[in-house]
Amino acid sequence: ENPQTPIMEERKGRRIIMFPLPFPGHFNPMIELAGIFHHRGFSVTILHTSYNFPDPSRHSHFTFRNVPHNKEGEEDPLSQSETSGMDLIALIRQLKQSYAEPFRQSLAAEVRGGGDTVCCLVSDAIWGRNTAVVAEEIGVRRVVLRTGGAASFCAFAAFPLLRDKGYLPIQDSRLDEPVTELPPLKVKDLPIIETKEPGDLYRVVNDMVEGAKLSSGVIWNTFEDLERFHFMDCNSKLQVPFFPIGPFHKHRDDLPFNTKNMEDCKTTEWLNKKDPQSVVYASFGSLAAIEEKEFLEIAWGLRNSERPFLWIVRPGSVRGSEWLESLPCGFIENFGDKGKIVKWTNQLEVLAHPSVGAFWTHCGWNSTLESISEGVPMICTPCFSDQHVNARYIVDVWRVGLVLERSKMERKEIEKVIRSVMMENGDGMKERCLELKEKANVCLSEEGSSSKYLDKLVSHVLSFGS
Ligand code: UDX
Repeated sequence: ENPQTPIMEERKGRRIIMFPLPFPGHFNPMIELAGIFHHRGFSVTILHTSYNFPDPSRHSHFTFRNVPHNKEGEEDPLSQSETSGMDLIALIRQLKQSYAEPFRQSLAAEVRGGGDTVCCLVSDAIWGRNTAVVAEEIGVRRVVLRTGGAASFCAFAAFPLLRDKGYLPIQDSRLDEPVTELPPLKVKDLPIIETKEPGDLYRVVNDMVEGAKLSSGVIWNTFEDLERFHFMDCNSKLQVPFFPIGPFHKHRDDLPFNTKNMEDCKTTEWLNKKDPQSVVYASFGSLAAIEEKEFLEIAWGLRNSERPFLWIVRPGSVRGSEWLESLPCGFIENFGDKGKIVKWTNQLEVLAHPSVGAFWTHCGWNSTLESISEGVPMICTPCFSDQHVNARYIVDVWRVGLVLERSKMERKEIEKVIRSVMMENGDGMKERCLELKEKANVCLSEEGSSSKYLDKLVSHVLSFGS
């Protein structure tokens, strides 16, 4: 008799409603989590915004519902033209404001609409307290997904203290001072985001932390062996159950982002022809933008390092350019087959490829965790927010990467750092990174912490309905 049968039956008709934030670094882990719940016998409905809306055909296991946000005939505050000049915090505030009421209506319709019993709502932590208030009003329990790491969350949660003590707002004269309350962070590592209204950043962060306190639990895309002490800290601050069940994308082999298009296949073919651990993979995530001058330094640095490179340049990510126009004429052609530039790739697949020897990254949390999961050492150029905290941990705590500060991103320096990381065993970095990869695998094994937390999460969520 299959021991799983009674559990699966019990779950039949149980539904989880998810409300992701519409940015790839948030949406992707939510979809991965949806896949994990689905595998455990739940049905999943994704409430999504029309801003950056997903392609449901790529995720046929789930039901997608659009949350309509603007009334017919009214100006859309989230249209392409309205949002193109906005900074990230202003955009997040606009999203939160625009979707507050429509989300209430959509959630109510889903919960009261009959059909499967709804176990709970899983909302991105950044949506904040409004989702808590709405869920309570509608009578559905709410669990929060925090897509970043626990160390950076502790730094966000410390914002009031950091402001009281004068660390925030950051003063240029204090950048290299240690933050004694949050070792090993320095003032320059604090997770700020440049915005026209600094008060807005504090409000968004505070709302995220207070919203998590009001939840029935927090799910983390990280694993206990990586951030054990920060879980204790988060736990004492939030006082809610927490579930570090990451890395999400490693739970199963057939997760949604393993789909490949033609361009990805060409990239794999290109990688197949390279020596083991010889390629530098460079990508700065889905949001960071760079100046043209920086772009050219990166180009020359990669080229002069004389290592093969795969470089992701998102269209529009170089200020003032559409894509690659500012590269000197013949730049790529002269380099022959040694360099490849694409607009986007299947990053999970690239990092898992044996030819990749280093990842030059902006240290977004997903990229960090994906690199660790494949044992690939990093070159860290954090741009904003949690990326600074992640970089500090990569370089000083886990010691699986070297820093290349954005302000020092000059071709000679780039060449030097690439050579150091790609050096045989990169001063022990590769070994340490493989050890972390092994720890992640252990956490995901049957008796490992991520698996056990997942079992607890499933029981927790099922207990809501009873
Ligand atoms: C944002 C923030 O910048 C980051 O700091 C925060 O932790 C999450 O939200 P983003 O900048 O996009 O995320 O970076 P990251 O967290 O690394 O997420 C990018 C995702 O896009 C990764 O899952 C990566 O695998 C994927 N990706 C990136 C691709 O699939 N292909 C690419 O070519 C580039």
